[in-house]
Amino acid sequence: MILESVARHRTAMTRVALSRPMATAAADGFLQPERTVFDYGCGRGDDIRHLRTLGYTVDGWDPMHRPEAERRPADVVNLGYVLNVIERPSERADTLRAAWDLSRELLVVSTRMTWDARGLIGRPIGDGLITRSGTFQKFYDQPELAAWIEDTVGVQPHAAAPGIFYLFRDEAAAQRFVASRVYTYRPRVRIDPQAHYEANAETLAPLMSFMREHARPPKPGELPETTAAAIQEALGSLGKAQRLIRQVTDDDYWAEVTVQRRAELLIYVALSRFGRRPKLSQLDRTLATDLRLLFGTYQEACLHADRLLLACGDQALLYVNARSSTIGKQTPSALYVHRSAMTEIPPVLQVYEGCARVLAGTVDHANIIKLSVSEPQISYLSYPTFDRDPHPTLRSSVTVNLRKLSVDWRDYSRSESPPLLHRKEEFLGAHDPKRPLYERLTRAEMRAGLYEHPERIGTLRGWRDTLDAAGVTLRGHRLLRG
Ligand SMILES: C[S@@+](CC[C@H](N)C(=O)[O-])C[C@H]1O[C@@H](n2cnc3c(N)ncnc32)[C@H](O)[C@@H]1O
Repeated sequence: MILESVARHRTAMTRVALSRPMATAAADGFLQPERTVFDYGCGRGDDIRHLRTLGYTVDGWDPMHRPEAERRPADVVNLGYVLNVIERPSERADTLRAAWDLSRELLVVSTRMTWDARGLIGRPIGDGLITRSGTFQKFYDQPELAAWIEDTVGVQPHAAAPGIFYLFRDEAAAQRFVASRVYTYRPRVRIDPQAHYEANAETLAPLMSFMREHARPPKPGELPETTAAAIQEALGSLGKAQRLIRQVTDDDYWAEVTVQRRAELLIYVALSRFGRRPKLSQLDRTLATDLRLLFGTYQEACLHADRLLLACGDQALLYVNARSSTIGKQTPSALYVHRSAMTEIPPVLQVYEGCARVLAGTVDHANIIKLSVSEPQISYLSYPTFDRDPHPTLRSSVTVNLRKLSVDWRDYSRSESPPLLHRKEEFLGAHDPKRPLYERLTRAEMRAGLYEHPERIGTLRGWRDTLDAAGVTLRGHRLLRG
């Protein structure tokens, strides 16, 4: 069924900035000046214009707004908010396949989501709505979109963000993306003063950073050729350079880096289980080498990772792990952690959160992560003023339920009394430099009796009333009388 009265051309709006899917792909490092981009269903062509201004080679086609353009293959193809304006399911599938056929490396697919339909008045038709402006809109659930993409093109999509999926041509690239999602942390390295090292510190920096990232020295070919040549010229050989780095650093430091890298790899291998777990030969060489050197064999890594995944399905185990975490704010039903401290919670909880990210992708601007211990549910909370406001308010949340496989978004920006945070230090990592400042404020607020009625202070209105009643005000992170 095609509806003559459906005004598809009206769906294309004017964009003053890069669209969310293109901004996400750029932030994930997929738009590089040497890669070509094609915008399939480009509307008025604003993404093309913005990307060209940024120096990219971009082209695009749209049946309504740019019908004369040629549909050409490109490294990255964008299919941005096109599928949801097509009323006929078979045409939707043909459009997805056509865009995928043009993608040499990556297809970025985005659609509007069910929560966009809240408050929208429209006439139900087929599997969507005719809106008041006469356009058709099909709103998707995150898992519904993932399943439909996979059924239509036979490729496992990877959630980039709510409503945005990546389809990779090459499995190694897909796995690099999955691995890049694991939070990483490296302790600061202390260097013993030594003249020979100091004279060559700059040349050695890329080698040091490889060793810190991978917890091992590089194999031939893993460092860029010019870097390896410069090190060889300055130090005689890569082996001598590694020995010099080891001489000026503690063995304990490298042991700690190894523990950290092993945990990251395990979390990655656990998460790679979704869909089909890749064979070792499908991974890129560096990732495969990390796994082999840190675990002995890939099978061994998979065995450990599967145990972690199994543990994630056990609510009692999750509860014990959450309660034993020395990082994060504990409440009866959840553990709340600042994004920057995620590497410091137990690995099983990192996998638990990673499972939610496999489903939802990365939630932009979310800085507090709520790991529920009463049901399999992770929420990504956005407190945009966390750093500067002593009691930041909640702007929006994305909740991922791993039992229902649902992803839901809530907006608090228009709420007159949104939830707000206290004791910000509890969300942070053990060595976060902001901790002392926040702790001082918490002590002052406790002394002033502001926490005596916890049930009153969880929302903005109640908190303001409490401050007024106590005759105190806040300036920055300081509590003032009167
Ligand atoms: C909501 S707009 C999105 C435009 C642009 N991608 C953006 O993000 O701003 C949807 C666009 O899809 C186009 N479109 C409709 N049917 C299409 C089809 N079968 N193939 C490609 N594009 C189509 C419409 O002409 C419209 O410009």
